[in-house]
Amino acid sequence: MKDETIIRGVAHSDTIHDSAIKHVTGRAEYTDDLAEPSGLIHAYLGLSQCAHGRITGMDFTDTLAQPGVLGVLTAEDLPGVNDVSPTGKHDEPVFAEGEVHFWGQPVFAVIAETRDQARRGAHKAKISYDALPHALDPIAAREAGHGYVTEPLTLRRGDAASAMDKAPHRIKRRFEIGGQDHFYLEGQIAMAVPGEDEDVLINVSTQHPTEVQHMVAHVLGVASHSVVVNVRRMGGGFGGKETQMNLFACVAAVAAKRWNRAVKIRPDRDDDMTATGKRHDFVVDYEVGFDNDGRILAVSGDWYARCGFSSDLSGPVTDRALFHADNAYFYPDVELRSHPMRTNTVSNTAFRGFGGPQGVIVAERIVEEIGYALGRDPLEIRKLNLYQNGQLTPYHQEVEDQILPRIFEELEESSEYNARRQDVLDWNAKGGTIRKGIALTPVKFGISFTATWYNQAGSLIHIYSDGSIALNHGGTEMGQGLNTKVAQVVAEAFQCDIGRIKITRTTTEKVPNTSATAASSGTDLNGMAALDAAEQIKARLIDFVAERWQAPRDEVKFVPGHIRAGDHEIPFDEVIKAAYMARIHLSAAGFYKTPKIHWDRATGRGRPFYYYAYGAAVAEVSVDTLTGEYVIDRADVLHDVGRSLNPAIDRGQVEGAFVQGTGWLTCEELWWDDKGRLRTHAPSTYKIPLASDKPRVFNVKLADWAENAERTIKRSKAVGEPPFMLGISVFEAINMAVASVAGYREPARLDAPATPERVLMAVNRLKG
Ligand code: MTE
Ligand code: MOS
Repeated sequence: MKDETIIRGVAHSDTIHDSAIKHVTGRAEYTDDLAEPSGLIHAYLGLSQCAHGRITGMDFTDTLAQPGVLGVLTAEDLPGVNDVSPTGKHDEPVFAEGEVHFWGQPVFAVIAETRDQARRGAHKAKISYDALPHALDPIAAREAGHGYVTEPLTLRRGDAASAMDKAPHRIKRRFEIGGQDHFYLEGQIAMAVPGEDEDVLINVSTQHPTEVQHMVAHVLGVASHSVVVNVRRMGGGFGGKETQMNLFACVAAVAAKRWNRAVKIRPDRDDDMTATGKRHDFVVDYEVGFDNDGRILAVSGDWYARCGFSSDLSGPVTDRALFHADNAYFYPDVELRSHPMRTNTVSNTAFRGFGGPQGVIVAERIVEEIGYALGRDPLEIRKLNLYQNGQLTPYHQEVEDQILPRIFEELEESSEYNARRQDVLDWNAKGGTIRKGIALTPVKFGISFTATWYNQAGSLIHIYSDGSIALNHGGTEMGQGLNTKVAQVVAEAFQCDIGRIKITRTTTEKVPNTSATAASSGTDLNGMAALDAAEQIKARLIDFVAERWQAPRDEVKFVPGHIRAGDHEIPFDEVIKAAYMARIHLSAAGFYKTPKIHWDRATGRGRPFYYYAYGAAVAEVSVDTLTGEYVIDRADVLHDVGRSLNPAIDRGQVEGAFVQGTGWLTCEELWWDDKGRLRTHAPSTYKIPLASDKPRVFNVKLADWAENAERTIKRSKAVGEPPFMLGISVFEAINMAVASVAGYREPARLDAPATPERVLMAVNRLKG
């Protein structure tokens, strides 16, 4: 390697994503691109055609008669346990046994020589059911006495009931919030390769390799050490591959061991959307008490979630909805209750924000209601109620790092909010067909897994004798740039060019017992673990160089491409070669666990979050009141990522999250028919935002003065999820445009998503 003095890829630089060129030239390998072992066969799932029923018969005669079909797997064929529930509740079978609980539930798999043969074979099976009553939405489930899929949570501080009684004003409303399909571009996929004895190797598109390892081990009835899980990258996960991949990996693994051939499983998009979980939809009944100035005095609320037939991650997701039901505002007396309802729908799961958005949007709805009730700009209500440092959240964590006042101030100015709001009011006053709306909404998002033990990570660094570096960590790359950021941390530590560092695929063989790459914590955790490994090797190199080049230990420094020892400056390669010859250990495993956090769910108290990430957005929209259609004329974002490790990648995350958040609240609508069939299961019926739907003017800035008050990796902050909630600004702006048709006498109170259909109905209702 060449002797460099200018190095690329250090911390805080706009380093290009390590796969950017491969992404755009099609040379990035996804699971389906891997060279297939000879003799590879295919599995295809057979899905239930009944929302709830007893299975009375399974006839595979026609399936088995199909050319190329090798056999069928059902619950009986699993060597170990028939369960892939991620939280150990044993409530999610791989294949339905006795009963089906939603339309689209996997019942069996067909194994065939080709994927097409397996798929055709699956459609030939005849499964008969005795239908049982079903309930699809959380309110119907409550009325049918379905109960909860997991323990509900209550967060309480003070006495909300009596504070509510004393409040000068009270508003009590229901708000319905839709779910969302992940629509990762690469769908679910796994390829299992059998090995000797009980071994199996699985290449799979998952955010959680360790969990796949555990699930496959359970379903095969073998120990974890027999199962290896590899992930080079995902074509998007967004939470949809945190648990949902387990089932596919297990089916591929079981078939691989049974036929002793490599097995691939890849559902069609329609089946992927029907059979895998989504963002939870919620029905929220909230009540707020406030004074004449708009100061919030008390809040109480019930969050009813469509969890689906099993618990999956519904416990932590519905918990997080409550954790974020205050968003950025202090509620003096508060009581929040979650109701994770069991429904006859697919089991809902993680999705960017992990329930947080469904809490935040209710806080913003509350503020909006107060603003309209008092005839004030909701922004004034926001400012009045923002947390001040020292105040307690509903879960009794003290807010210590509040920076929203400065973000508001800068954003108001840079977006010319006040002048533009006046323009919008003037425009609407003319009473035309096109109405405008504008809104500034903030986000405050808690960073850490609320399952405290998840906040740990490992890494492994090897320096080879030629000076090249192999870096491995427990996180997974799904496009978010985690590998690039972690490599920057290591490049910075060794003061070497990032080109020296090979970021290797994630594998359970190198770093064990990892957590899901989720909760936006990938860089915080794995960056720290990688730094720990780098520091161990650096300490050994410093000892070695001090002795070899006769310099005091504290005069040995890593400088670009070199190590300086007193008056000597030795190229990195030369040091490494000499260290190897001197038998210095050039490999290290690193570890990190997040400090300070603790959480007691039983009492609803603790410090579940290490810190908060903040941000705000101003959105301006135009709504056509004859068709209900709208465009986002402009959006200005100011977002806090602490001291950014990579401003280019972080801005990309903010832009992508904003657009995805807007999609959730505008065009993306999930629709089940009375039979429980998801009818929006393809891009033909489920609309994600297009490039042309993005704001016409889109100004995205990072708060470059921000710095994490906690000792996170290089004082940066997590970025993956928090800006998702900035899409709420668009939703509120649409609501304002609609409310203008009735002179803002009342809020538009659109349920989410604000599809053109809903907008049009609201316009017509308000016009009376
Ligand atoms: N960005 C891209 N391009 N693709 C993704 O799938 N997932 C999001 C976010 N950004 C995602 C993404 C979600 S849900 C999370 S939790 C974080 O990335 C996870 O990665 P991180 O912890 O490294 O930020
Ligand atoms: Mo993200 S929803 O935590 O995978």
